[in-house]
Amino acid sequence: MTSLSPSELLREAERAAARVATADADTLAALRTELLGRKAGKLTHVLRSLAALPPEERRAVGARANQLKQQVEQAIAAREGELAASAAPGPTMDGTMPGRRVWRGAVHPVTAVVDEICEIFRELGFTRVVGPEVETEDYNFTKLNIALDHPAADAQDTFYLGPRLLLRTHTSPMQAHIMERYPPPIRIVVPGQVYRRDTFDASHSPVFEQIEGLAVDEGISFVDLKATLSHFARRFFAADTAVRFHPSFFPFTEPSAEVDIGCSRQEGELKIGAFGDWLEILGCGMVHPRVLNACGIDPSDYQGFAFGLGVERLAMLKYGIADLRTFFDADLRWLAHYGFPALDIPSLVLGEAR
Ligand code: DAH
Repeated sequence: MTSLSPSELLREAERAAARVATADADTLAALRTELLGRKAGKLTHVLRSLAALPPEERRAVGARANQLKQQVEQAIAAREGELAASAAPGPTMDGTMPGRRVWRGAVHPVTAVVDEICEIFRELGFTRVVGPEVETEDYNFTKLNIALDHPAADAQDTFYLGPRLLLRTHTSPMQAHIMERYPPPIRIVVPGQVYRRDTFDASHSPVFEQIEGLAVDEGISFVDLKATLSHFARRFFAADTAVRFHPSFFPFTEPSAEVDIGCSRQEGELKIGAFGDWLEILGCGMVHPRVLNACGIDPSDYQGFAFGLGVERLAMLKYGIADLRTFFDADLRWLAHYGFPALDIPSLVLGEAR
C-alpha cells in the first residue's frame, strides 16, 4: 500500500498522533482511521510488517509502535470524552419561573440572650457552667433550705419522675453541686432549662430558661451583690437604666431581694429607662448560712451572694417580644425577625449594645 519504510511510517504516525489532543470530531474520526484502521492504518501496517525487518530494527520499531498504539488509543478516548462533554446541553434557566426562597439559619433569641448575659458576667470573672436537668429532691430543695412541705416543693408545681427524683424547678441546685465540689473562691453563672407544672400562656410556660449566679469568697457583702447586679442591669439594658433593690424572700438567701429596673407604661407601651415606674427582673440575696453549711462551707469563713433570672422574660423586655409562647413555636418567619445572625459575636465584646 505504501512505499514508505516502517521507520518512516512510524514517524508519520507520530506526527498524526500529535494532532489527536486538539482534533474536532471529524478530524478525530479521520485520525483514528489513518492510524489504527484495520486495512490502511499506519500503525497497523507498521506492526504487520515487523516480521520482515532485521531483528535489531524489529525490536526497536516494534517497541515504539506498540507504545504509540497504546498512547493513541488513550488519547483518542480522552478527546472523545472532552468533545462529548462540551457538546452536552448546559444548564438552562427560565427567568420567568418563580424564585425559590432559601431560609438562612438564625440564632434563637434565648440562645443569644444567654450568651449575652454570660458574657457580661464573664467580664466580671464568672465562669459559665451547666448542670443536670434531672435532680434529686435533696439538691432541688433540701440543700437549698427549702422544706419539702414548702409550697415550692409541692408535687402540684413539680414534675416528679419517681420517688425523690424530679425535673429541676430552678437552676439553683447547681449552687449546691458547685459548692460541694469546688473550694471558694467561686464565681459561676449557670444557664439552663427548668420545668414547672404551669399554664402555657403569654407569660407562663412549663419549661423555660433560667440563669443562676453564685459568688462565694471571703468577705463578700451585700455591697458586692448590689454593685454586680446594678452593673449587669445597665450593661444588659442601657447605661442610664434606673435600678433599685427591694426586700423579698427566698429560702436559700438571707437577706433576699428583687431587682427592679425603671420603666414607663404609658398608653400600653413599655419603655425601659428612668421613668419612675418599676419592673422586676430578677431575684437575689446573700447565700443563707444553712445552705453554705449543707454544702460543706463554713459560713464564718466564707460568704456569698446568689441570683436567678428568667431568660425569656429578659429577652422579651429587651427585644420587644410580646408573647412567651412564640419562643417555642419554631416559626421560621419569627426566627428570621427576632433571631440573630449565626456566627455573630456578642457585640458586648466590642463595647456596644446590639
Ligand atoms: N431559684 C429562684 C426561682 O426559681 C430564683 C432565685 C432567686 C435564685 C434568688 C437565686 C436567688 O439564686 O438568690 O424563682
